[in-house]
Amino acid sequence: MCGIVGGVAERNIAPILLEGLKRLEYRGYDSAGVGLIEKNTLHICKAAGKVQVLADKVKASKVRGSTGIAHTRWATHGIPSEKNAHPHASSEEIALVHNGIIENYLEIKAELASKYEFKSDTDSEVIAHLIHFYYAQSQDFAAAVKQAISRLKGAYALAVICRNNPRQMFAASRGAPLVVGIGIGEHFVASDSFALLPVTRQFIYLEDGDLAEISREYFTIWDKNGKETERQVQEILQEGSTDGAKAGYSHFMQKEIYEQPSVIAATLEGRIHAGEIQTTSIAPQFLERLKAAEHIQIIACGTSYHAGLVAKYRLEELGISTAVEVASEYLYRQNAVAKNSLFISISQSGETADTLAALEKAKKLPYLDYLTICNVAESALVRASNFALLTRAGREIGVASTKAFTSQLVVLDFLAMLISQAKKTPIKNSTITAYGNIPAEIKRLLELNEEIKKIANEIKDAKSCMFLGRGAAYPIACEAALKLKELTYIHAESYPCGELKHGPLALIDKTMPVIAIVQAGELGEKTMNNLHEVQARGGRLIVFADSRVNTNTIGEENIVLSLGVCQEEIFPILSIVPLQLLAYNCALLKGTDIDQPRNLAKSVTVE
Ligand code: F6R
Repeated sequence: MCGIVGGVAERNIAPILLEGLKRLEYRGYDSAGVGLIEKNTLHICKAAGKVQVLADKVKASKVRGSTGIAHTRWATHGIPSEKNAHPHASSEEIALVHNGIIENYLEIKAELASKYEFKSDTDSEVIAHLIHFYYAQSQDFAAAVKQAISRLKGAYALAVICRNNPRQMFAASRGAPLVVGIGIGEHFVASDSFALLPVTRQFIYLEDGDLAEISREYFTIWDKNGKETERQVQEILQEGSTDGAKAGYSHFMQKEIYEQPSVIAATLEGRIHAGEIQTTSIAPQFLERLKAAEHIQIIACGTSYHAGLVAKYRLEELGISTAVEVASEYLYRQNAVAKNSLFISISQSGETADTLAALEKAKKLPYLDYLTICNVAESALVRASNFALLTRAGREIGVASTKAFTSQLVVLDFLAMLISQAKKTPIKNSTITAYGNIPAEIKRLLELNEEIKKIANEIKDAKSCMFLGRGAAYPIACEAALKLKELTYIHAESYPCGELKHGPLALIDKTMPVIAIVQAGELGEKTMNNLHEVQARGGRLIVFADSRVNTNTIGEENIVLSLGVCQEEIFPILSIVPLQLLAYNCALLKGTDIDQPRNLAKSVTVE
């Protein structure tokens, strides 16, 4: 993953690059660096740790420059450290920042080993030396960059500067995103337009294989065949609802949890309103596709994968057979495609490398069509799909996904309703009406926070927790376990209740909290039976249950949190909210880094 920012300007761009890096920290935050050219001198400043450590160092060293590149890293090759941080320089002439993985770096490194001293353990440093190797022969910066990138195998987004060409920068993108930001008398590049919003609203999204030359006055783009090309300029009018400020909350994640009523209202707008499904914003060709679909293949990663698992229950209720698979598994096997199968990718960022690669693979297979459910309109996934349903959650900054997940569930249910309508399968009025109630219902559940804090205190010292659920509450258990492990580093497992007796029951003792999510109705009753089995073996139960579930049989030594009456259709969307709060409060008590958990990054743009 990693985040890149760069620019060529008249003014000192160090503050612009550092602000850009802060905005890109969601892509990685284990080390950072900046390379600036000032009066034909190349200054490099790097630091292990977050961007603020680098910012303090830059301020203290007073380095400045009007051409520069910067990087925030998520380690792939080599541990997080100053020496492995980017930019990587070659002979104090070339400096480069890179996002991605170069598959043939060892081969190139071996070739250059006698000519250059390698100072880092990264694959990226190899590219800097390779560019320098060609540059030393011709003194032609452009030709050297072109020659070097023609040798690279793998995925990359990179930006490179040369001390002797201080008014010029090259940027290349293959399998990793890069945008060109157009200013007045200055131009920029970045991994994400968000990094550059303080300086421009006009962007060009580089396409796969593009190379761009950037200077103050102009920029030129060549396509993957080396042909000079024009790319459409896109304007971003608004910065989005989450504009980087915590708005009084202690953490972005807390803010994002509390934003859920409003982002779900936004996600429903023009789709489900006053008990009616609205299709005016949906392309007629897409509705035709839904009518023809007999099977659905969902691909996603992490939290988005859990959203897909929840959707499978709803879609199969409608008679649409649905398969859900993590993208990284879908990629490396033979895939049999069912007749009239619709391919759906789900992603918050729209930049997840595994999901993008799965889509690219699927496009070569005989699917009926390609839909993405995504939170970022200008993302690579949206651009690569034929149809998109956007989640409108606003920018999600906390690394642990919350509002994007509930918005995905809403869009997936809307999709299920569109399919029902297209196939003329009746939908109960009460089902449609339930969606309008979600914002108010979530507000009600957020008020349980004080009780949830007490539960967090009960589990904060556990070494391991088990999450249980049945039906669509099972993927909610998976998501709740993921939230807890990401935020608190407590080991957490999730099981469908019925599986307990097939092995995991052996883990039960009084030290391991067993957290169950129980919906009303028959499935809830079955879950309660399984919980009695846990209780009979001395297990410690924490039950999040619809108030209609009879929990009187749960002993007083255990905890029951009543979720009130949650309408069946929206139970998955509602029930995850208290569990997000549980993970958040537990992390608060443990003092972990809530918005940026260790070893993780928000956008996983490497395989
Ligand atoms: C967990 C989390 C990750 C992401 C996953 C996919 O809280 O955020 O598991 O869900 O990396 O990311 P997207 O949805 O951007 O494709």
